[in-house]
Amino acid sequence: MTKETVLVTGGAGFIGKHTVNMLNRSNFDVIVADKKPLQSDIVCKYYQTDVTTEDLENIFKENQIDYIIHLAALPSVADSIKMPLVDCRDNYQATVNVCTLAKKYGVKKIIFSSTAAVYANPQYLPVDEKHPTSYLSPYAITKNAAENFIKYCGIDYIIFRYANVYGIGQDCYGEAGVVAKFFDLMTQNKPVQIHGNGKQYRDFVYVEDVAKANVLAIKIDVEGEIINVSTNTRTSINDLFEILKDELGYKLEPIHTETREGDIEKSILNNEKLISLFHFMPSIDIRTGIREMVRDYNMRNKVCVL
Ligand SMILES: NC(=O)c1ccc[n+]([C@@H]2O[C@H](COP(=O)([O-])OP(=O)(O)OC[C@H]3O[C@@H](n4cnc5c(N)ncnc54)[C@H](O)[C@@H]3O)[C@@H](O)[C@H]2O)c1
Repeated sequence: MTKETVLVTGGAGFIGKHTVNMLNRSNFDVIVADKKPLQSDIVCKYYQTDVTTEDLENIFKENQIDYIIHLAALPSVADSIKMPLVDCRDNYQATVNVCTLAKKYGVKKIIFSSTAAVYANPQYLPVDEKHPTSYLSPYAITKNAAENFIKYCGIDYIIFRYANVYGIGQDCYGEAGVVAKFFDLMTQNKPVQIHGNGKQYRDFVYVEDVAKANVLAIKIDVEGEIINVSTNTRTSINDLFEILKDELGYKLEPIHTETREGDIEKSILNNEKLISLFHFMPSIDIRTGIREMVRDYNMRNKVCVL
């Protein structure tokens, strides 16, 4: 049987790499379009390209694309406030370009990575998909606009609204950079800053669970839905600090600083829709996910020493 081909935009990024690996395990042919170089151990056809430009069309001319997982973005609330034009280009213009070409070349379905940021400060918890959208940052505005363009352009779609994604391979500057940032500082025995009193809480979902949802969205015959990808569990920033401290044997106490503009205070996403439509529940809890990160860190460190 011929393999189906999936184009992963932003496939050189954190969630992208895990998604590409999972697609390979599920026997798809994978093409990555990313402006950043791809790690050499990732198996796929790779185009170094900016998905906001006309160059993207070459990929569609040269390949028969069945599905797109659109992850390319500027995935940072803080950067979107500092650089709203870059945010507009990489989050909105990129989506318009990808969708327009998807429609032109008869792509079967697009899977889009939206965010809990579109709920702003929720009116009720856990937030379900019927909750009104709002914004505290340009990032939330452009993700919301991108969602609307996908619905408008008349292609089959699944829009995922991810909670805070964390796991192996995340850099310290992403949207959910808090886990990666704390991890990085603690492993260097440097002081850790917590914005505000640390009682703000989040729903942390492990990257492998997100990658699984992305692949299931291709395999399962469901479309035209907006679906939260989350654990429906709350973890405060103070709890996160304690778990990391415990797992890494870190000894310092945190330094509390001022709260940050654009930060959501409380967020947990209801995942009943994901469970009922996909028969899948993200099941890796925060401590287990962090243990995986520690195991990977120790393994890599040993390799470095040798
Ligand atoms: N990490 C999270 O917690 C989280 C939460 C909610 C939603 N998301 C969304 O998931 C997606 C992936 O996030 P991530 O954490 O893997 O981020 P990431 O920064 O690791 O990956 C994004 C990738 O997109 C690429 N990219 C950006 N603009 C591009 C462009 N114009 N052309 C080509 N490539 C471009 C980057 O080079 C990068 O490799 C993003 O759309 C993000 O908004 C992430």
